[in-house]
Amino acid sequence: MASGDSGTIPGLPGFIDGHIHFPQVRVLGAYGNQLLDWLQKWIFPEEAKYTDRSYADGAAVKFMDALLSGGTTTCQAFTPSSPVSCEALFDAAAERNMRIITGLTGIDRFAPDYYVISPDDFYRESKRLIEQYHRKGRNLYAITPRFAVGCTDNMMERCSQLKKEHPDCWINTHISENPTEVYQARVEFPDCPDYTSVHEKHGLLGPKFTAGHGVWLSNDELRRFSESGAAVCFCPLSNLFLGSGLFRIGRATDPLHPVRLSVGCDMGGGNAFSIIRVLEEAYKVGMCNNTMLDGSVNPREQDLAEAERNKLSPYRAFYLATLGGARSLYLDDILSNFDKGKEADFVVLDWKAGQAAMEWHQSLTTETTPATMEEAVALLFGIMACGDDRNVDETWISGNRAYKKS
Ligand code: GUN
Ligand code: ZN
Repeated sequence: MASGDSGTIPGLPGFIDGHIHFPQVRVLGAYGNQLLDWLQKWIFPEEAKYTDRSYADGAAVKFMDALLSGGTTTCQAFTPSSPVSCEALFDAAAERNMRIITGLTGIDRFAPDYYVISPDDFYRESKRLIEQYHRKGRNLYAITPRFAVGCTDNMMERCSQLKKEHPDCWINTHISENPTEVYQARVEFPDCPDYTSVHEKHGLLGPKFTAGHGVWLSNDELRRFSESGAAVCFCPLSNLFLGSGLFRIGRATDPLHPVRLSVGCDMGGGNAFSIIRVLEEAYKVGMCNNTMLDGSVNPREQDLAEAERNKLSPYRAFYLATLGGARSLYLDDILSNFDKGKEADFVVLDWKAGQAAMEWHQSLTTETTPATMEEAVALLFGIMACGDDRNVDETWISGNRAYKKS
C-alpha cells in the first residue's frame, strides 16, 4: 500500500479480473435461467451481434469504462466467436494502454448455426490474430476454447496445435461450473474420466492455463491443477447469480496442493463489473461453505484448517484481486505491487464513500487516516463487505490517471 490523502485508502495495485465476457455488457442481469438455458436464451443471440464491427466498437467503450470505474486495470476476457469483435477489444485496450489478455473464442457445437465457428476457421483466424496482436503494446493473446460442452475433439485439437505453435500464448476456458454442464461434458467426452482430463488429453493443462469457476472440481482435479501450474478463476457473483454452486476456496488453497487462483466478475454471468463486489460475494460463499443448508456445521467433515481457509480474510481477498491474480496469470513479474520496474497500474479507494452510513460505520475503525496496517486492513474489509464501485476514487493505467470519480 502507498500513502495517500485523508479520506482515501492509500493506493493499491489495480484490480485484476481473471474472467470476464466482453460481449455480455448488454445482457447483464438477465432473469431466470441457469447456465445452459441462459446461454441459449440470452447470450448467443446477443454475442452474434458482434460480427458488426461498429456494434463491437461501441460496446468496447462501455466495457472499458465500466472496468476502469470499478478499479480493474487488467482483465482476461472472452470475446464472441467473430474475429472482428476480437480486433475491436484489442484495439480498445491498446487505445487506453491497458493490459489485457483476450482471444477469439472457439465454439463449434451447442450453439445456433449462426453463432458457431468451424475448427478450421477458428485455427486460421486465431493464428492471424496472434500475429497481429500478441505482445503488441500491452496486448496478450489467449487461445480460448469456450468450454468442453461447446467444443468438439476437433476444436480442442486445434487449440492444442495453436498452443504448440505459440507456446507463449495463454489459454482461457470454463470448467465444472454447473452440475448439468459437468454431466454434459462427461457425455460429450466419454473417454475422459473427468472434466479436467479433457484438457489433459489435449495437452492444455499447465502454466498460463486458466479455467473459470471450477465449482464442482473434485479434490483430485484440484490437485492436478496445482501440480501442473494451471489456475482457476473464482467467480462468486456469477456462481450465485446463475445458481451454479459454492466454490470450495478452503480446499483450493490447501497448502499441500494450492491452486493458483484469481477472482473474476464473469460479467454477464456475474451481475456486476465490480471486483469489490466480487470480494464481498467470495467472502459469503466461503462462509456458506462452513454451514450446511440444514444448519449443521462442517458437513463435509473438512478439517478445521480448511474451514478456516473458507473464511476469506481481507488480506487474502485483496491479494487475490491483485498480486495473487497476477501470479495465477503468470504476470506477477511485471504487475501488481510497488516494486521498482513494475507497470504502474493503481487504484485509489475512498473508504468513506458508498452506502449512506458508510463513513460513520467506518469511523468505528478510525476517524482519520489509518495509522497502522491493521486499521487500513479493517477499513479495506469494510469496503469489501459493504462497498462497490462508488468506493473507487481514481484508477491509474501505466502511470496515467484513466478514471476519476466525479
Ligand atoms: N460457459 C460457457 N460459456 C459461458 C459464459 O458465457 N458464461 C459462463 N458463466 N459460463 C459459460
Ligand atoms: Zn464465463
